[in-house]
Order: sequence, then C-alpha cells, then structure tokens
Amino acid sequence: MKITLSIIKADIGSIGGHIKPSQKLLEAVTNYINKKGKGLLIDSYVGHTGDDIAILSTHKRGALDQKIHKLCWQALLEGTRVAKSQGLYGAGQDLLKDTFSGNVKGMGPAVAELDIEERPAEPFLMFCADKTEPGAYNLPLYLSFCDPMYNSGLMLSPNLGKGFKFVIMDVENTEADRFIELNSPEEIYDIATLLRDNGRFVVESIWSRNSNTQVAAASTTRLHNIAGKYVGKDDPVLLVRAQKDFPATGEILAPYGIGHFVAGFMRGSHNGPLMPVKKNSSISFFDGPPVVSALAFSVGKGKLTEPADAFDHPYWDYIRNQVSQKAEGIRRQGFSGPAMLPMTELEYGGIMENLKRLDKKFKLRKK
Ligand code: F6R
Ligand code: MG
Ligand code: MG
Repeated sequence: MKITLSIIKADIGSIGGHIKPSQKLLEAVTNYINKKGKGLLIDSYVGHTGDDIAILSTHKRGALDQKIHKLCWQALLEGTRVAKSQGLYGAGQDLLKDTFSGNVKGMGPAVAELDIEERPAEPFLMFCADKTEPGAYNLPLYLSFCDPMYNSGLMLSPNLGKGFKFVIMDVENTEADRFIELNSPEEIYDIATLLRDNGRFVVESIWSRNSNTQVAAASTTRLHNIAGKYVGKDDPVLLVRAQKDFPATGEILAPYGIGHFVAGFMRGSHNGPLMPVKKNSSISFFDGPPVVSALAFSVGKGKLTEPADAFDHPYWDYIRNQVSQKAEGIRRQGFSGPAMLPMTELEYGGIMENLKRLDKKFKLRKK
C-alpha cells in the first residue's frame, strides 16, 4: 500500500521562555488534528521536543499536499490562539506568513515527508531537534549511511553495500532549490566535503541504490533566510526508514552517541553538543543544550503504533552525562572563539551594530 508520512513542526509558543509548550497548547493542536483530520488522515501523532510541536501524520495524498498542509497550518494557528491567550512566550513565532498558499514550505514550519510503498513490516524513526540548525543531521546521516565504523550492515548486507544516493541542498540559495545528487560509496569524499558545512549544505533525502526507494527525508528550511532576520533557529525534523535493505534502527541511532557540536543554543548564536533526549523533553541550560529526540514507530496500512522512545534507555543516560560535560567545557569559554558563531551566522544584530559604532573609533598609525 502506498502511503505518505508527513511531519510538520513549529514553535508556536512556550512556558517560561523557551522551555516547552503548555499542556493546553498541545491539546489544542491535537484536538484540531483529530477533529478536522477525519477523512483526510489515516493516523496522526502530536508531540513536542523542547519548544517545538511536531505533527506526524499518515495519509494517501502524497508529499506537499495542499489539504494536509493546510490542516496542519490551521492546527498551528489554533494552537497560536491558545498560546496567546495563556501569555506563552513566542506565540506563533514560526508562522512567518499570513496567507496560506499551496503548502507550508517557506512559511516557517519545518517539513519532512516520505512517499512510500509500505513494506510488510515498516519500522521508521522520527527525529525532532530543538535549538539547532538543519545541518545538525549531516554528520549522523553520513555516519549511518556511509561509514562501516557506525553501520556494519554496509559490510554485512550485500543490499546495503550497494550504497545510497544523497540529495544535498544548498540552503544559501533561496531563489530556487539548488541541489546536488551524490552516490555512496564512490563519492563519499565529495559528500563529506559538502556535509562538513552544516550551515550551507544540508541532506534533503537519501535513497537506496539497491531498490531505488527513498529511505530518509529531512527538513532543510532556514528561517533566517526566509524572514531575512532572526526569528529563532530552524530546529529540523527527520524521517528515516529502518531495517532490511536500510540501516538497522541501532545503526541509525549509533552516531548520536557522539554528541557532536552544532550551531544553535542560546539566542541561536552559539555552538553546543547535540544531546539525545527522551520524548517530550524540555529546554533548560543556557536555552539549550541543542537536543534531539528519536521516536520509533511501526506502521501497518497507514496505522501507527504508539511510539517507542529510542533515547529512553540507560545507555543514553551515560551519553547525556558526557554531553553535559562537553556543554560545560565549551560554555566555560563564554563568547570566545568557537563557543560563539561566526559573524555571518549570528542570529541577533547587536554585534554588527557594535562593530559599526566601533569602526568609527579606530585610528590609523603610520608604519
Ligand atoms: C533560541 C531562542 C532563545 C532566545 C532567547 C532570547 O532559539 O529562541 O535562546 O533567543 O531566549 O529571546 P528574546 O530575545 O526573545 O528575549
Ligand atoms: Mg523557541
Ligand atoms: Mg524551537
């Protein structure tokens, strides 16, 4: 059976700053989807990671469908009304446009969608990250799909060994979608050359070369580029199908043990380690650290199981402690060097204004 898995996610307001959405807000979004999604959706799940609410749905209408996107947009608007009435912080902050035109791409929310032919058993993972950028998934995806040090299936399973096609987006180009297709394993150095730069090049999708089917879909929007100014970090979402001819769930999760440094954190202007967190976790230390949740689902004829929380396991407690130590390490140097983002990536204008003012005070001394 052909189905579509869609995630549409946005920050539409949270309690006490950017900690987490209120229960009422979550209920408003969930109730709207349950009520108005009848006849349109096969199934849905609504949850949050940090201050972002994600709507996962299954349906038969294909990616970028106007009705599905409008339903989620309206649910987020409904939530925004509740957020405003409760005085939540940043109510509706990711809903950047007033009028809905076709689909929510470029309107603020993060979108990731997979059109699939359901396998007899269809396990997949839904990743939601907060306080970070779309390129946060670059390294984990590279390691899960290209590196036998993280994915032994690349050696052990002939079908995985045939490699994967990466579609990589140049997110600096806002006029049109500028993308490149590169194949593993032959072109892994080229893939790494691009994915090194998390702020510019972002994995959009990954395809199995054995079956020519799509394995992964990630959101690639940069709010900064849409709005032309700071409105919050992009907080990307990712869908990855698992098992058989695709990486095993454990091979998809393994790279998150690194807690690699990504851009985001306080004011979207710092580097911090990405912490794998449990379902419905909040944001705390220094408006961070950057976090990622991973919910595993199985889907049959479009019906979702309850989520299995992939980072809710004693192993990840150990990782979370290590990531906290990394976060402490970089935070101790405050604003200095790599702790803060380069000028082009800063999400607030204050430093540029200071520099302009100071520029006039500089003097020249003859050599
Ligand atoms: C980061 C984020 C927060 C805010 C910070 C200041 O994505 O949303 O770190 O940037 O809390 O927010 P304002 O400037 O609204 O007081
Ligand atoms: Mg926020
Ligand atoms: Mg957020």
